[in-house]
Amino acid sequence: MSIAKVKGPLPGPKGKVLLEKWHKYEADAVGFQAPVVWDHAQGCVVTDVDGNTYLDWTCGVLVTNVGHCHPHLVAAAQKATTRLLNNYECANVERIEAAERLVKALPPHLDKCFFLSTGSEATEAAARLMKRKTGKFEILSFECGFHGRTLHGASMGGMAGPKRNYGPTVPGIIRAPFPNPYRDPNGWCKDGPDFKRYFEFLDGIIAANSTGSLGGAILEPYQGAGGFIFPPKGWLKKLEEWLRKRGMLYTLDEVQASYGRTGKMWALEHENLKPDIVTIGKAIGCGVPVSAVAATSDVFSCLSKGELSSTLGGNPVASAAVCAVLDIYEREPLVANSAKMGAYMLKRLKQMATKCKYLGDVRGMGLIIGLEFVKDKKTKTPAPELIKPLIVDCANHGLLIGSVGMFGNVVRVAPPLVITKAEADESLAIMEGALSRLKL
Ligand SMILES: Cc1ncc(COP(=O)(O)O)c(C=O)c1O
Repeated sequence: MSIAKVKGPLPGPKGKVLLEKWHKYEADAVGFQAPVVWDHAQGCVVTDVDGNTYLDWTCGVLVTNVGHCHPHLVAAAQKATTRLLNNYECANVERIEAAERLVKALPPHLDKCFFLSTGSEATEAAARLMKRKTGKFEILSFECGFHGRTLHGASMGGMAGPKRNYGPTVPGIIRAPFPNPYRDPNGWCKDGPDFKRYFEFLDGIIAANSTGSLGGAILEPYQGAGGFIFPPKGWLKKLEEWLRKRGMLYTLDEVQASYGRTGKMWALEHENLKPDIVTIGKAIGCGVPVSAVAATSDVFSCLSKGELSSTLGGNPVASAAVCAVLDIYEREPLVANSAKMGAYMLKRLKQMATKCKYLGDVRGMGLIIGLEFVKDKKTKTPAPELIKPLIVDCANHGLLIGSVGMFGNVVRVAPPLVITKAEADESLAIMEGALSRLKL
């Protein structure tokens, strides 16, 4: 018996009325989504207001790693709401416990954290920390990177979307290319293990662009919004060495990569990286708004009192969620399941690519897999026009997907980490069917 059931063409009758109301009253500024109004969700399964059920490969944009509405998380958040909702900048029991639990779950050199509410705030705080600690104002970041939609975040990011038409960005951002094995015109990705030509090129960028005030760098372990781009093995470690040689601090933006998404609790574990700062968001609260910046005590020591703060940061409900999520990671084999089911789904999707002339690349790590669509596999010309019909077709057959990428041509396969083999098989079959109907 199938898990996903969609009764008729979408949107359903109740969904249609609600979507019209939504667009009447809330600015229609979000990216394209399937015409579905979510009602409730559990694990990997979403139910809409018309009673249709879907398997979820969006995971609320990489948020609900423990599965939608995990009962332990829901109970912990509910309990916290009955005692105290917020106490700005003050201590509360949940906040103190969350700080201890998060620091103990982090790699040992990151011995302090600070709670905020969104990933953008966390990257903003990281930029401030790097500038404040080094006394330098330039930051190295990467083309196609994404660090949020605040001005600092958008400026550090290497995507046009968050900054085009908004005038000047924050000064002092120096941007370098991020090696992309699928689109590698210079052949840098094949140069491992030392990536000599890439780092010579990087030296040239710094020589040409820095005023001499380069103090920090920020990057994602794999580029998420940029199109699920995984750098070649060993490059991140070489970059770390390059940064260390220049005495620079660096931030690894794990807002979406952490909490088991890549098959390890922290993506930095894959190459034994030791960033000075790590930004954390999304799955830290698995749906409850919370984020954090983690760093060494030495880095945090540059701040005076009152320099880091956010109205809802460290509130008891968010903090209770941080603890409950960590409880779930201790009790359930989420990270192992991410590695195992991710490898299985990657293999199946690669097989599908051999039969679909538009599916140019399938790449992934754990349960973060990107499907890159092109007009032609030889020229690799992006085919963003295929994405909307694919999202709608998949939804009509019971699978929710979303898209990312500099060119908007990458579908993300990022289900909750609790996905079962049966759920994976059914969702893969829906994707296979949709791919067979895809036409330019
Ligand atoms: C790597 C990365 N950093 C920062 C952010 C911004 O997080 P938020 O949307 O919670 O502000 C995102 C969001 O997608 C992200 O993927």
